[in-house]
Amino acid sequence: MLKINICGIDFKNPVFLAAGIMGETGGALKRIANSGAGALCTKSVGIEKRIGHRNPTMIEVEGGFLNAMGLPNPGVKEYIKEIYEIKDYLKRNGVKLIGSIYGKNPQEFSKVAEIMEPYVDLIELNISCPHAGEGYGAQIGQDPNLSNRVVSSVRESVDIPIIAKLTPNVADIKEIAKAVVEGGADAITAINTLGPGMVIDIKTKKPILSNKFGGMSGKAIKPIAIRNIYDIYSVVDVPIIGVGGITTGEDAIEFMLAGASAIQVGTGIYYRGYDIFYKICGEIEEYLIENNLKLKDIIGRAHEF
Ligand code: DHB
Repeated sequence: MLKINICGIDFKNPVFLAAGIMGETGGALKRIANSGAGALCTKSVGIEKRIGHRNPTMIEVEGGFLNAMGLPNPGVKEYIKEIYEIKDYLKRNGVKLIGSIYGKNPQEFSKVAEIMEPYVDLIELNISCPHAGEGYGAQIGQDPNLSNRVVSSVRESVDIPIIAKLTPNVADIKEIAKAVVEGGADAITAINTLGPGMVIDIKTKKPILSNKFGGMSGKAIKPIAIRNIYDIYSVVDVPIIGVGGITTGEDAIEFMLAGASAIQVGTGIYYRGYDIFYKICGEIEEYLIENNLKLKDIIGRAHEF
């Protein structure tokens, strides 16, 4: 009942693991595969190893979390050993793998994508981390030109579907969505974390995060995500993967009504446990049965209003 096809790939359900959570090792990814997710997105990896920021890198706030991990990863060549380990397991269980990658220019993105391609089903381009520093992440995703060049460079380098993950921290996300689709993106993931924001400890009188600022995730950013997806759906025809504050099937349905074909869950794992993937699938099914609807009937339905 929840089967979907996005970019020519069959998924057993539209509830995916978001990048950055439980995606550091093969073992962690396997655990989420066992929790009912239709696809898993890896932690963002780059061409070289990065240690990331020192702790604290995460802080809970009302309605979610702020994080600034600093893109810690072992580099793509080391990372593929992790996913090599679970490749057959995922295949047997019908769980698809999305490789999240970052780089500082179109050439670097292409290089990482080429190394990743044999091990994943789709590539997600992280052009949206809000605190990745000079030349990375949102500094790319806030510039339609640069976003277009990154996507078209990767498009020329790999044959598997490419998803561009967008930042909400822009004046007009429609411009960026059009630019990445013109560059050859097969799908769009929206949104990455909001902000960055900041928390100051009034006892020490210092910022809590070692990076001072961090991207906001969790329930509080959901209305922003919904609006961004609604906007993107109104200007491009590629599938949208919605992410940002989803913890229930009702949240997932809302994203779909705005235009998402599938959704990703990250921070929600903290609120409802690993089983959140099974739980959300069950809740979506319940809604569809109660309302005598199919998944395809609800995608973008709010635009008919
Ligand atoms: C990190 C945070 C993000 O929001 C993101 O998209 C990528 C990386 C990080 O700090 O590692």
